[in-house]
Amino acid sequence: MITLKNIVKEYDGKQEGNRAVDGLDLEINKGEFVALLGPSGCGKTTTLMMLAGLLKPTSGEIYFQSKLVNHVEPKDRNIGMVFQSYALYPHMSVRDNIAFPLRERKVPKQEAYERAKETSKILQIDHLLDRKPSQLSGGQQQRVAMARALSKNPEILLLDEPMSNLDARLKLDVRDEIRKIQRNLGVTTIIVTHDQEEALAISDRVAILNGGRIQQYAPPSELFNHPVNLFVASFLGNPPMNLIHGTIEEKTGNQVVATKGFEYILPADRRLDKKHIGKSVQFGIRPHDVTVCAATDPQAIKLKVDLVEHLGSGKLVKAIDPYNKLETMIRLLTDNKLELNSGEYIYIKFKDRKFHLFDMTDNGRNLLHHS
Ligand SMILES: Nc1ncnc2c1ncn2[C@@H]1O[C@H](COP(=O)(O)OP(=O)(O)OP(=O)(O)O)[C@@H](O)[C@H]1O
Ligand SMILES: [Mg+2]
Repeated sequence: MITLKNIVKEYDGKQEGNRAVDGLDLEINKGEFVALLGPSGCGKTTTLMMLAGLLKPTSGEIYFQSKLVNHVEPKDRNIGMVFQSYALYPHMSVRDNIAFPLRERKVPKQEAYERAKETSKILQIDHLLDRKPSQLSGGQQQRVAMARALSKNPEILLLDEPMSNLDARLKLDVRDEIRKIQRNLGVTTIIVTHDQEEALAISDRVAILNGGRIQQYAPPSELFNHPVNLFVASFLGNPPMNLIHGTIEEKTGNQVVATKGFEYILPADRRLDKKHIGKSVQFGIRPHDVTVCAATDPQAIKLKVDLVEHLGSGKLVKAIDPYNKLETMIRLLTDNKLELNSGEYIYIKFKDRKFHLFDMTDNGRNLLHHS
């Protein structure tokens, strides 16, 4: 297990607002595949460099099992790394590239080559051992970098945007491959990415970072269905969650979210504590939880279709309030059968209990999240 305890990293001295990493706590189980996900500059690479030992935390502790490793040198950490620019040694053959970390550790040449061959088989590049990096495709170079990181049998594999240079198709192949290798070898893996689809697809757990802090650390479905705050909710999901400003009000015995365009009655089992009455909230609903309904439906909200985008598997409809009271558009996903054109009126409703309420008086905390 890897444990990060209250890690702080300040690059340029202790000035206010100067923390690249700001009190980070994280536990990663042995054999687990974890992604660090967040916008540019949120501290992902910095965190990975501290795990690798290439950067020292300003404060806080890093443990591998129960051993404090803050002052352990990178070479003594038994870590394999693949960075965004995977920088193979251009003058060396693939074989020598993969064997390099072993040779560095004074493993005899013959043995190092044998192990390079074994690792290259796992990555299906054993037919390329005599080539130079310049004679390989991007995806093959990528796999050589992975093989080099794996050849010394690391306990921990650190990957920083390892697929960012690959085209979309190859990315999918390489990502499946990374996951397979990781499972087979059982190596604890931490991947840094800003590609949410990638993170959600291959990870056991994802840590969402913003401003050097963890917003939420959970399995992908938990993050998607139960975001703890507005940041996580709006960061994850494509097309993004609809967010509509409203206030919590009490009306004829019901609690409602009153927006400028509609009033949404909260079901009895989603009622909030009385202290929230009057609060300013964002009402969140994902596009696939918005459905087209009949005009006569008691929950129907009338909208006007603004744009229809064909996604292949369905359509993304962007609809606006015909009375211009609602300040945002509403996105919904429909199937291909539904014929809709710009300018047409539609009636929509929200699937039961799929909405979220984010407290705008409390940093966007999800009022319905019970952890
Ligand atoms: N060597 C450095 N000196 C000073 N500040 C730095 C240094 N490296 C990074 N930073 C700052 O620390 C913060 C976190 O940077 P980091 O590289 O960890 O971000 P990241 O999450 O990896 O972003 P990206 O997705 O763009 O790679 C940023 O504000 C960055 O400007
Ligand atoms: Mg980075």
